[in-house]
Amino acid sequence: MTTLIEPALLERELLSSRARTVQLTADLAGERLLGPMLAIVNPPLWEIGHVAWFQEWWCLRDGASAAPTDSMLSGADRLYDSAKVAHDTRWNLPLPVIESTRAYGEEVLDRVIRRLRREPDNAGLQYFAQLAVFHEDMHAEAFHYTRQTLGYPDPFPAPAALPVSHGPNRGDVELPGGAFQLGAVPDSGFVFDNEKWAHPVRIEPFSIARDPVTNGEFLEFVEAGGYRRREWWSEPGWSWRTGAGAEAPHYWMRQGNAWLQRRFETAAPLAAGHPVIHVNWHEAQAFCRFAKRRLPTEAEWEYAAAWDARAGSKRRYPWGGTGPAAAHANLESSGPVAVGAFSEGDSASGCRQLIGNVWEWTESGFEPYPGFVIDPYKEYSQPWFGTHKVLRGASFATTRRLVRNTFRNFYTPERNDIFAGFRTCAAR
Ligand SMILES: [Fe+2]
Repeated sequence: MTTLIEPALLERELLSSRARTVQLTADLAGERLLGPMLAIVNPPLWEIGHVAWFQEWWCLRDGASAAPTDSMLSGADRLYDSAKVAHDTRWNLPLPVIESTRAYGEEVLDRVIRRLRREPDNAGLQYFAQLAVFHEDMHAEAFHYTRQTLGYPDPFPAPAALPVSHGPNRGDVELPGGAFQLGAVPDSGFVFDNEKWAHPVRIEPFSIARDPVTNGEFLEFVEAGGYRRREWWSEPGWSWRTGAGAEAPHYWMRQGNAWLQRRFETAAPLAAGHPVIHVNWHEAQAFCRFAKRRLPTEAEWEYAAAWDARAGSKRRYPWGGTGPAAAHANLESSGPVAVGAFSEGDSASGCRQLIGNVWEWTESGFEPYPGFVIDPYKEYSQPWFGTHKVLRGASFATTRRLVRNTFRNFYTPERNDIFAGFRTCAAR
């Protein structure tokens, strides 16, 4: 199932993932523990308990077996199993108070760590401990979305000012394409079922932008009447736009002749050189039609991120084979930075910020790769095939340990609460 990992490393990851959950939720109290009932958020009190339950289920209760053992918290399965507890009922459950919820999470984590020490050769346990870490990391990013959605303060210090290292547009790189192995190869560490396995695809020659689309570029679309001109929108896109009454990206606010953008609880002047963020797939598509461009397919995105033509092989990260260092990518930070930053993270093809800053919508629908086999956490991928669009890369709120070139994120095309932007390709 997985190669053995040093228990001390896993232990550090479990502790650091929990510390992040606490950091993102520590100040939530009173009404904010439940918050408003919205389709795009969970009640934080539920979500904190759910993360603990998930870890207990897979790492202590043998969740993959036919007969999982009982939870240490009586009735936990009826509260926290996201596959069985309907989203809109989560505000009305008899949830334990926050102190008991956190204590449950601490007890689970403590027992998982003790078990990992006791069973250093248990590869299955290690697999599920990693799954719990990544699951908790994804919920941490979701807490970040919730804080933006609800206008709560930014839990992290403001990003360090980084120099804008180029003008508004560095143009495209032309790539030859050809035969490419899309997806993860075995023995490359933990990967999700939807990344398995690398399989041949044919990529036609294409040109892709070195940088994500900026606020400044997207503003041209807005000011050209982009949200009012039917011809730039697809049928479902126009239906979304009219239903939502959208006139600009969700958090943009016009003030006289200027634009502001809300980030968490404050509004600041729109930063022209930052990537556009909080646009959904429909808005990305409409911009592309306006600009006579198109979104990359996920195969093109992965090729641009991973293919090292000189070496004749794929890289695990755009910059090479080693995990992200501080200079490579804007990860685990407080917010987006200018698209010119992080040149050390450039791919062999010459694209920047493929990982970090903002997730990038691709043209592709979320579908299984050939020969797809479901992993024990059955609800991770399969329920979402066919309805979601693929995003690649990572955002400023993603953890370092989660990123790699083959990672596939997926959301429905109307979601604009997530930290997503996009880059474009020259039209075919
Ligand atoms: Fe979950």
